Amino acid sequence: MVKQESIEIFKKAHAIVNQKDYTKPEMSDKIYAGIDVGTSSLVLVILNDKKTPLYVGLQEANVVRDGLLVNYSEAISIYRKLLAEAEAILNRPIQVMSGSVPPGTVGNNKSVISNIIQDLGIEVDQIIDEPVAASLALDIQNGHIIDVGGGTTGIATIVDGRLVHVLDEATGGHHLSLVISGNQGIRLEEAEQFKRKHAEESELLAIVRPVIEKIGHIAEQAIIASQAPNDLSIYLVGGASRIRGFESVLEKYLNRKVIKAIHPELVTPIGIALSNRN
Ligand SMILES: Nc1ncnc2c1ncn2[C@@H]1O[C@H](COP(=O)(O)OP(=O)(O)OP(=O)(O)O)[C@@H](O)[C@H]1O
Ligand SMILES: [Mg+2]
Repeated sequence: MVKQESIEIFKKAHAIVNQKDYTKPEMSDKIYAGIDVGTSSLVLVILNDKKTPLYVGLQEANVVRDGLLVNYSEAISIYRKLLAEAEAILNRPIQVMSGSVPPGTVGNNKSVISNIIQDLGIEVDQIIDEPVAASLALDIQNGHIIDVGGGTTGIATIVDGRLVHVLDEATGGHHLSLVISGNQGIRLEEAEQFKRKHAEESELLAIVRPVIEKIGHIAEQAIIASQAPNDLSIYLVGGASRIRGFESVLEKYLNRKVIKAIHPELVTPIGIALSNRN
């Protein structure tokens, strides 16, 4: 089970995505800000000290490919826009912010997220691993976290709050769309829309089932390699997992319970904001 407190945060965050007119939650002196620079979308999340979301800005963009930021200037201009919107809504400047990288990111690719934050005129707080961010939002110390994003699936094993094993493979939401494109005889962009429009329908699940089973296979390899105890809970996050029944296909493949977060695309971004220590 995901804790009720976390579920409330995800629901409140979802309710204000890209909204400007909503009843402002109580402001606090200390606020938590984080950016998630993803393959499919760029997200900025701001929470108050009671972990209530104050602002969630999300813009779809193709600035990351294969885990690498390929369009820095577009990323900056999108974040400038989201930041200006957030600061206007909150009526105060954001001074510190956290970011994240896929596990195993080193060197320049790691510092690029710090550079974005600094170029926004903001002090960098934490740069953390994406699955660690997800574990903070889920408020768990132990578990496997399967994050099915746009381009990749990452499986991370967290034990006592520490990342002990990680595997990242290039199968994600994009590949679900590719299969839909082939099955329906439509272009990839149309398949992407088709997927979202029919995400609640069992016919869609039938089309994409082989890709989810492949993700199950990747997850199984990661779980075995992690050498974690067999009773470690398995959590599912990431936008691609929004398809209804995604978790049940994984459960069947893995023969283990899989706990899907509500609004799974927001889990990692919320966790990045929560990682602020400043
Ligand atoms: N309503 C929906 N139904 C089905 N799939 C969706 C829906 N909304 C978003 N997606 C899919 O979720 C994926 C993006 O997920 P997410 O936002 O977690 O990725 P990301 O963090 O940008 O990417 P990555 O983690 O791979 O860098 C895309 O493939 C998109 O098609
Ligand atoms: Mg992601």
